[in-house]
Amino acid sequence: MHIPIKNNVKWVGQIDTELRQFHGSDFSTHKGSSYNAYLVQEEKTVLIDTVWKPFADKFVKNLATEVDLKKIDAIVVNHGEVDHSGALPALMELIPDTPIYCTANAVDSLTGQYHKEWDFHVVKTGDSLDVGNGKSLVFVEMKMLHWPDSMATYLTQDNILFSNDAFGQHFASNTMFNDAADQCDLFEEALKYFANILTPYNAFLKRKLSEILAMNLAIDIIAPSHGVIWRDNPMQIVEKYAAWCDAYQENQITIAYDTMWEGTRTLADAIAAGIHEQDPDVAIKVFNIAKTDKNDIMTEVFKSKMLVLGSPTVGNDMLDSVAGFLHFLKELKMKNKKAASFGCYGWTGEAPIKIKESLEKAGLAYVDEPFRNKWNPDNEGLLAAKEFGTRLALL
Ligand code: FEO
Repeated sequence: MHIPIKNNVKWVGQIDTELRQFHGSDFSTHKGSSYNAYLVQEEKTVLIDTVWKPFADKFVKNLATEVDLKKIDAIVVNHGEVDHSGALPALMELIPDTPIYCTANAVDSLTGQYHKEWDFHVVKTGDSLDVGNGKSLVFVEMKMLHWPDSMATYLTQDNILFSNDAFGQHFASNTMFNDAADQCDLFEEALKYFANILTPYNAFLKRKLSEILAMNLAIDIIAPSHGVIWRDNPMQIVEKYAAWCDAYQENQITIAYDTMWEGTRTLADAIAAGIHEQDPDVAIKVFNIAKTDKNDIMTEVFKSKMLVLGSPTVGNDMLDSVAGFLHFLKELKMKNKKAASFGCYGWTGEAPIKIKESLEKAGLAYVDEPFRNKWNPDNEGLLAAKEFGTRLALL
């Protein structure tokens, strides 16, 4: 299947409706994904990116129905990660002398993964490739968005920005364009993608957005490497990114916990009640970490102004589900978040204290004191937990 994008540009990628896990099992993809590759057919024919390896043969066969492969003058590799370069070896078997335009870091990632000596042409920001008919592909390095090898490619006159992972979503939409997609699904997935993949690189993103805006490129279409293509008001996703990379928060508090015998869960509900009583306008999201998708919780944490994290104490420490969640949280380097901790205990009660230490190491601003309840909370304990919530709502 090939989809016309604009004039002589077509989408030649792969929609993957069945995908449920990405990056191994590190990222949940409830709505599938797509690997977007594009074919520019001007006086020169240029392929931009490929697809994930399991679809390599299908990709090459499909591409051959669109163009004589030997007539491909160049391949642009915006990013070497395998979901976009996985079909490159199969394609290069057939056209081994085709020049590949990519960043110096992409030469490193491609040779490191595929061990081939292809005809690499290293490009930097501002370099361009004349494709004929008065049009050029202009390259823009996108270092750390999200790999050191990432770049975007801009097609002049048609004003299409092939942005690779930036502005993408893990979202399999057979309609392929933002205006034809379910808007709730689209923005939910765009935010989840940002929160779980791009958040650690916010400083890079902020600088890059300013740099791209300063280039005064007319942008009619943003064509990312995953999900839908932004053709209706494409700058709306740029504006979202500008907000998301700037210490983003909404009026929301997320309470996340794991529990052994329901005590810590009961505290979570009491804390939520206290927050709500004090501030009925604040959105409150409550999750059992062990029973909820970690990427979905993290998206809610990203939206929140405060995370309240709980665990009972076992083995003088927190439950491993909570420890793993904190490890991921630290990796994401979120900014502008307050945090607190709580938990039930029977004997020693270290968990909320150790959670505090980990939250601080993850860069969150810890408030109040670790809230601990010995054994199961009675009415007095529940009242204390509620008062803890009330104090948190005032911070
Ligand atoms: Fe979609 Fe970083 O690959």
